[in-house]
Amino acid sequence: MSSVYIHIPFCTNICSYCDFCKMYYNEEIVDSYLEALEKEIKSCYKNELIKTIYIGGGTPSSLTIKQLNKLFNITKIFKLDNDIEFTIECNPENTTDDKLQLFKENGINRLSIGIQTFNNNYLKLLNRSHTKEQAVELINNAKKLNINNISIDLMYGLPNQTIEEIADDINEILKLNIAHISTYSLILEEHTKLYIDNIKNIDDDLEYDMYKLIIKELQANNYIHYEISNFSKAGYESKHNLNYWNNNNYYGFGLGSHGYIDNIRYENTRSINKYLNGEYLYQKEQLSIKTTMQNEMILGLRKISGVNKQAFINKYNKPIEEAFAINTLLSTNQLIDNSNNIYIPEDKLYVSNDILINFID
Ligand SMILES: C[S@@+](CC[C@H](N)C(=O)[O-])C[C@H]1O[C@@H](n2cnc3c(N)ncnc32)[C@H](O)[C@@H]1O
Ligand code: SF4
Repeated sequence: MSSVYIHIPFCTNICSYCDFCKMYYNEEIVDSYLEALEKEIKSCYKNELIKTIYIGGGTPSSLTIKQLNKLFNITKIFKLDNDIEFTIECNPENTTDDKLQLFKENGINRLSIGIQTFNNNYLKLLNRSHTKEQAVELINNAKKLNINNISIDLMYGLPNQTIEEIADDINEILKLNIAHISTYSLILEEHTKLYIDNIKNIDDDLEYDMYKLIIKELQANNYIHYEISNFSKAGYESKHNLNYWNNNNYYGFGLGSHGYIDNIRYENTRSINKYLNGEYLYQKEQLSIKTTMQNEMILGLRKISGVNKQAFINKYNKPIEEAFAINTLLSTNQLIDNSNNIYIPEDKLYVSNDILINFID
């Protein structure tokens, strides 16, 4: 069984921090893009059962109803598991009630909403084109339609942001009883407006305090911290993202998408002209067993539960301890072995990169 990621690289507005694969929405280009996407999927998909679909962006909700209808018709190509998790990313400024209704009619059962913050001043700084009020309205409208599996993206470590302001965002999340939260500390990416404007990062210690506060408050309110940056109510973990962290197969369709099928990691072109001409692929690499095992650890240790020891043996015919020299990591408590799983202890998650680097040559 595989997962499917579909990239919709169009936005009606460009945020001041964003370095993702995206461009301004243009009706004709979107129409051509959907034609190309359908061809790409038909040429690559091998008819496996699909357990999760994630339509991400960019801003999928920037498409018109007609274009969304076309997109959902394309997804009918896939053979779906009965228990499919079907997510679409949507932004508050353009997710109308009609679109929510259409999502429901087409089997969407999870929304990932780009909230970022509930503070209107920071929303302006981030050049988001929505307000806190629109964000709250979208969440409430979705719930009215019984779409309760809602995830939001929350950014922290914003320029001049205080710990109290993060506490306010968390309070808003708790009031709205959101099922899933993905957190992101601001990265000042080159070529973005914030970078060009020479905006400075906040202090590292303050950012760490914000991370700790988010964990503490969410855990105190029955959220499960299940991945370094992800939290959910019980049963609302993202099946799609867990598939990545479990190092399982997934297709990546659309501009700039990444996929991993039959031990081949591939990356699509970021050139819209090439993509529309049917030159989808940018590069691909057949992974060795060693690289696959390294990925199993690097991705799996992002989960709070870590890597299951028996599952590793089932996949690679050898125990983790034989595949990697982890004795020092264990004796210094950078990794914990609870006899079922090997995992990074919670107090070291923030510096997990220093630990994960040990699994790279
Ligand atoms: C690829 S974006 C797409 C989501 C959607 N288009 C939106 O803007 O809400 C996924 C998430 O990554 C996060 N993100 C993007 N750029 C970032 C940056 N430079 N630093 C931190 N988080 C970032 C944001 O929280 C964003 O919602
Ligand atoms: S953060 Fe989302 S909406 Fe903003 S430019 Fe990036 S992809 Fe588009």
